[in-house]
Amino acid sequence: MGSCKEQVKVEAAKCVWIHGPIIVGAGPSGIAVAACLKEQGVPSVVLERSDCIASLWQNKTYDRLKLHLPKHLCELPLMPFPLNFPKYPSKYQFISYMESYASHFNIVPRFNQSVQSAEFDPSSKFWVVRTQDFEYISPWIVVATGENAEPVIPNIHGMDLFHGPITHTSVYKSGFDYKNKKVLVIGCGNSGMEVSLDLCRHNAISHMVARNTVHVIPREMFGLSTFGIAMALNKWFPIKLVDKFLLVVSTFMLGNTNHYGIKRPKTGPIELKLATGKTPVLDVGQLAQIKSGNIKVMEGVKEITRNGAKFVDGQEKEFDAIILATGYKSNVPTWLKSCEFFDKEGMPKMPFPHGWKGEQGLYTVGFTRRGLHGTYSDAFNIAKDIAHKWNTIKNNNSCNSHIVLLNNS
Ligand SMILES: Cc1cc2nc3c(=O)[nH]c(=O)nc-3n(C[C@H](O)[C@H](O)[C@H](O)COP(=O)(O)OP(=O)(O)OC[C@H]3O[C@@H](n4cnc5c(N)ncnc54)[C@H](O)[C@@H]3O)c2cc1C
Ligand SMILES: *[C@@H]1O[C@H](CO)[C@@H](O)[C@H](O)[C@H]1NC(C)=O
Ligand SMILES: *[C@@H]1O[C@H](CO)[C@@H](O)[C@H](O)[C@H]1NC(C)=O
Repeated sequence: MGSCKEQVKVEAAKCVWIHGPIIVGAGPSGIAVAACLKEQGVPSVVLERSDCIASLWQNKTYDRLKLHLPKHLCELPLMPFPLNFPKYPSKYQFISYMESYASHFNIVPRFNQSVQSAEFDPSSKFWVVRTQDFEYISPWIVVATGENAEPVIPNIHGMDLFHGPITHTSVYKSGFDYKNKKVLVIGCGNSGMEVSLDLCRHNAISHMVARNTVHVIPREMFGLSTFGIAMALNKWFPIKLVDKFLLVVSTFMLGNTNHYGIKRPKTGPIELKLATGKTPVLDVGQLAQIKSGNIKVMEGVKEITRNGAKFVDGQEKEFDAIILATGYKSNVPTWLKSCEFFDKEGMPKMPFPHGWKGEQGLYTVGFTRRGLHGTYSDAFNIAKDIAHKWNTIKNNNSCNSHIVLLNNS
C-alpha cells in the first residue's frame, strides 16, 4: 500500500493505492472472499461502513433468530461450523462462527468506511472507490454489500399520523416490550411470520397483514431440510416437478393455507425464489398459531389512522404499535457508478451461475438469491479468477507498470 503520486489528478485529500482487490462489505460474503483470496496468496482490503463484521447479523436481527437453513447449507468456504453446533445454529452461534472465521484467516476490515461511490476509470484502468475519508484505488473491486443492505420502508397513507411506534424488523429485538399490546405486523415473509410468532410467545395480540401471496412450507420433510431435499431433487428433475412434490407434501403436512388467509402464489416455491428472490416461509410453528387464531391474518391495509388501521375489507382496528416486515433491498445503484452489470434493483442482470463476474475487474458475491450457499460458490470462483490474474501480473513483474499507468492518466 502506498499513496498516489502527485501527477495523478485526483482531488481527494487522501488517496490509497490498494495492493490487491478492494472488497466492499464485511458481511459473510466479503469475509469469505477475503479468506479464499488469502488462501491463494492474494492480499485484499475490506471496507465496511459499520463498526463490526456481519453487522446485519449483529445489529439488525431479532433475538430468537436461528438460521433458516441447516448448517451444512450455510457454511463459508474453507472452514466448517464447529461440530457441537446444532443443525439450526442460533444467530449468536452464527456470529461467533463468523468472528472465529475472520480471526482464523486474519481478516481485519477497515471499519467506519462507508463507500459512497465506485467508478472505473477507463484511462488508467483502475477502480476508484470513495468513502467519506479516503479514495481507494485498485484494478479489482468485489461488491459484497448484500441483497439486504437497506430496509424497505413502504409509504402507507396515514403513517405519519399514527400515535404509537412504527418500527422496521431490522430494529425489532424481542416481543418482550409488547406484552399485552395490540400489534400490527405488516408483511408475511419469513420476518413477518417469525416476528408475529415471537409476539405471540410474549403474549402480545398479534395481527399480521398478508397482502401478497406467499408459500408456507414445512422447514423439514421426513426429518430432512425441505430446502436440501429440493436442491437434491433438482439435480435430476425439472424445477416444476420438484415444486409440485413440495406442494403436495406441504399440503399434506400443513393443510390448505388458503383457508387461513395465506394465499399461495401460482408459481411454485423454488421456481419463484430463483426467479424473483421471494423466499418461501419455512414454518417453525407460525401456522399453528395462525390456525388457532393467536395470529390474526388481515388482508391489505387501506390506511393507517391515529389509533390504528383501516383494512381493504372494510374492518377498522386499534393498535398500539406497528412493525414493518417489509424486507430489504440492495444499495448498489446508490454508489456503483455507470455500471451496466447491475439492474436498477441493484441485482446482477446475469442469472446464476454467471452473476459473479463483470467487466474490467468487477466481481460480485452474495447476489445469487441463494443465501450463504450462493456466497460459498461465488467466493471460490472470484478468488480463483483474481488469483490467476494476480499471478500473471506478478510473473510479468508489472506491479511497477501499474504505477506507470496511473501516472499516465
Ligand atoms: C432475518 C434474516 C435471516 C436470514 N437467514 C438466513 C439463513 O438462515 N441462511 C442463509 O443462507 N441466509 C439467510 N439470510 C440472508 C442473509 O442476508 C445472507 O445469507 C447473508 O447475511 C448475506 O451475507 P452478505 O455478506 O452477502 O450480506 P450482508 O450480511 O448484508 O453484509 C453486507 C455488508 O456490507 C456492508 N455495506 C453495505 N453497504 C455498504 C457501503 N456502501 N459501504 C461499506 N459497507 C457497506 C453492510 O454494513 C454489511 O456489513 C437471512 C437474512 C435475514 C435478514
Ligand atoms: C453492533 O453490535 C456489536 C455487537 O453487539 C457491537 O459491538 C457494535 O458496536 C454494534 N454496532 C452498531 C453500529 O450498532
Ligand atoms: C467514523 O467516521 C466519521 C467521519 O470520518 C467520524 O466523524 C466518526 O467519528 C467515525 N466514527 C468512529 C466510531 O470511528
